[in-house]
Amino acid sequence: MDETIRPYDIHDDIARVMIPARKLKAMVRRIAAKIDADYPDPQQRLLLLSILKGSVVFMGDLMKAIRRPVEIDFMKVSSYGSGTVSSGSVNILLDLHRRDMEELDIVVIEDIIDSGKTMKYLTQYLKNKGARSIRVASLLDKPARREVDFHADYIGCEIEDEFVVGYGLDYNEKYRALPYVGILKPEVYSH
Ligand code: IMP
Ligand code: MG
Repeated sequence: MDETIRPYDIHDDIARVMIPARKLKAMVRRIAAKIDADYPDPQQRLLLLSILKGSVVFMGDLMKAIRRPVEIDFMKVSSYGSGTVSSGSVNILLDLHRRDMEELDIVVIEDIIDSGKTMKYLTQYLKNKGARSIRVASLLDKPARREVDFHADYIGCEIEDEFVVGYGLDYNEKYRALPYVGILKPEVYSH
């Protein structure tokens, strides 16, 4: 019998693939086409604003699928959740320092909308900074979890109230590199 030890494979921690790679690809293409249609003036600057870190995989694929000229930038926000008191406000860990906000149509690129607090706060924040317009593109949406009134303009897919990983989404910083969106085996949470 072959007793070689198989190296740890992150795919082995997945109980179920919820959204396979080909579906993600179709979702990205659909959103890219919608953005191209919604921003037809090539002279008007469009900024794709990726929210670190969860949206980077979606961002990378989406920006390649958009045909019109785009600029990119990044912000990092902390979820009020872990350790801190849930105040409904959001900590900005990496801010946008720009003097050209009023020239920019912004599409915020997010991985998933859960309570809605992060995006509600962030879109208001960008409005206050004087952006010409703001829309939000989220790969996933969990409408059942909403705590504040917020609707994204572009959504890849609505999902049930289940914790998902992959395609940028993490559990304790792991599983972001999975090429699909999946659900972890319950035993993964216990160690
Ligand atoms: P909210 O909409 O302000 O509650 O927060 C959304 C953020 O929570 C996302 O950007 C993710 O970082 C995180 N999050 C929510 N649901 C999930 C999930 O199922 N998997 C991984 N991260 C999640
Ligand atoms: Mg996030």
